[in-house]
Amino acid sequence: MSDSTGGTPPSPLKKKGVNKMLIAAIVAIVVVALIAAVVLGGFLNPPQKYGLDKIESEGKVIMWTEASFAPFEALDPATNTIYGFDVDLANRIVENISAELGKNITLEIYDRTFVNIPAALANNQVDMSLSGMTITDERNKTVLFSIPYYRAEAGYGLLVQSTNTDISSIDDIINNSKTIVVNTGTTSEIWVDENLVKTGLISSSKVKSLPTIVNCVQEVKSGFSDVFIIDNPTVNTYVTNSSGELKNAGLIPLPDEPYGVAMNQKSTDLKELVDRVITEMLANGEMDALRAKWGL
Ligand code: ARG
Repeated sequence: MSDSTGGTPPSPLKKKGVNKMLIAAIVAIVVVALIAAVVLGGFLNPPQKYGLDKIESEGKVIMWTEASFAPFEALDPATNTIYGFDVDLANRIVENISAELGKNITLEIYDRTFVNIPAALANNQVDMSLSGMTITDERNKTVLFSIPYYRAEAGYGLLVQSTNTDISSIDDIINNSKTIVVNTGTTSEIWVDENLVKTGLISSSKVKSLPTIVNCVQEVKSGFSDVFIIDNPTVNTYVTNSSGELKNAGLIPLPDEPYGVAMNQKSTDLKELVDRVITEMLANGEMDALRAKWGL
């Protein structure tokens, strides 16, 4: 009776064999697809290059700076070019990179907000930054610094309007309830926060933080803030260039601020080269000449 429908029912054994083949085929397809994905993925996403390797393959050095920290970097609006002590030093570094790699390497400089520079170095978007950047323990956690190429010896200056008569020290700022402006992400911003705000000497509402140095200088010129606190050499440069509008009202004497070239932490070969260039320039008088050229 079971035969009345005609045809032989498929044997359980045979069915198992077909299933096995099917599974084997699927597994094979999946394996081939995975291998292809890995190979293609590796091809499309080659391992990241760092330091001299990266520079050699791109034929250029990408540098970020916040271009209003005169005389280290400043922007010439007429030609839209960035110039200054740091730019001269960067050019010397790139000349040495070209010699080392035996090929012509160009330097591309971009004007960027100071506070964003360390992260751009850390994610390898940028090869180096010369931005009057102080070597600090905190920054050492995310970027690699060269040996110091400059030391801002005097501490922070107090940039005020030249008509100002009641600020000549931090005590005056505290006692006369003055308003302060600082450049975001700088060491002087941290100093103001730790020594004046967190200690309760000044209310945080009296301190404004702006993205660039020119923003801060303009803030004082327009009278929106009473004083801009920043590395003393920069205060002096802005005073000199202000044709009498601004003055340096006093100094906050502090330990040295050593400035370094900042790089990605994996760019160790680039750091070696930069250190060598700085060491040579410090020894042969070139660094002194550069300081003299920029009034430092
Ligand atoms: N030396 C200070 C620092 O490292 C200020 C540097 C500001 N530089 C600039 N290009 N805005 O924090």
